[in-house]
Amino acid sequence: MVATEGRGARGPGGTATPAVRLVDVRKQYGTGELAGRALRGISLDIAAGQFVVLLGPSGSGKTTLMNVVGGMEPATSGSVEVAGRTLGDLDGEALTTFRRERVGFVFQFFNLIPTLTALENVQLVAELVAAPDDAARRAIDAVGLGERADHFPGAMSGGEQQRVAIARAVVKDPPILLCDEPTGSLDLETGRQVLGVLRELSRAAGRTVLLVTHNSAIAAMADRVIRLRSGEVVDDRLVPAPVEPEAVTW
Ligand SMILES: Nc1ncnc2c1ncn2[C@@H]1O[C@H](COP(=O)(O)OP(=O)(O)OP(=O)(O)O)[C@@H](O)[C@H]1O
Ligand SMILES: [Mg+2]
Repeated sequence: MVATEGRGARGPGGTATPAVRLVDVRKQYGTGELAGRALRGISLDIAAGQFVVLLGPSGSGKTTLMNVVGGMEPATSGSVEVAGRTLGDLDGEALTTFRRERVGFVFQFFNLIPTLTALENVQLVAELVAAPDDAARRAIDAVGLGERADHFPGAMSGGEQQRVAIARAVVKDPPILLCDEPTGSLDLETGRQVLGVLRELSRAAGRTVLLVTHNSAIAAMADRVIRLRSGEVVDDRLVPAPVEPEAVTW
């Protein structure tokens, strides 16, 4: 096991109760000879408020891990505890509620509805989760798009669209944000802005952020960096002095 695991369980800004606790989590696709082992015994504690970057080559299990933590896919075995819920104990309805209320997802592609404005895209989700009336407006402000709330996605840059997607993820005020390659289709400058927004959202509200990337430069701004290879954690370390997102370069 990795040397920093104990330290990582009480990471910077965190508390003793982990936001995520994985115990020997395995995920297998298919059965028999053809079985693909996407996760091969992952045990991790992630402290509340920690900003974690997850690195690893293509196929190493990063997306699978996010999907398991977010309740999108069940683990084949092992225990998955997220935001105080043991996911294996939840039935379909409880799992849907968990996903809707406890986890915010941000993906590489923004998937905004093109016929709705930025604000309307966020309001749609706000209504689904019965968020307070001004929640969508506040979320749009929090990602720095107050001035552009009435623009349509087609008239926004990639970075702006991603910020709308982030506003949509945080409007439900989830304790955990799962971001899979959120800067994957952005250039350096807009990518940095998006990272800055995520970092600020985690600092301001104490959200736990798990961010998957191929880009190891981004690791410099994390509290903690976990590397996967072939479905296993091969490295797990705290970053002693995370840099500001503006200082990240690639
Ligand atoms: N739905 C699925 N059915 C079968 N196999 C799958 C499925 N999803 C993922 N896998 C396999 O599980 C392994 C891990 O995939 P995963 O998508 O988690 O990797 P990743 O680290 O996110 O890769 P990338 O960096 O390319 O996004 C791979 O071998 C992949 O082929
Ligand atoms: Mg992936």
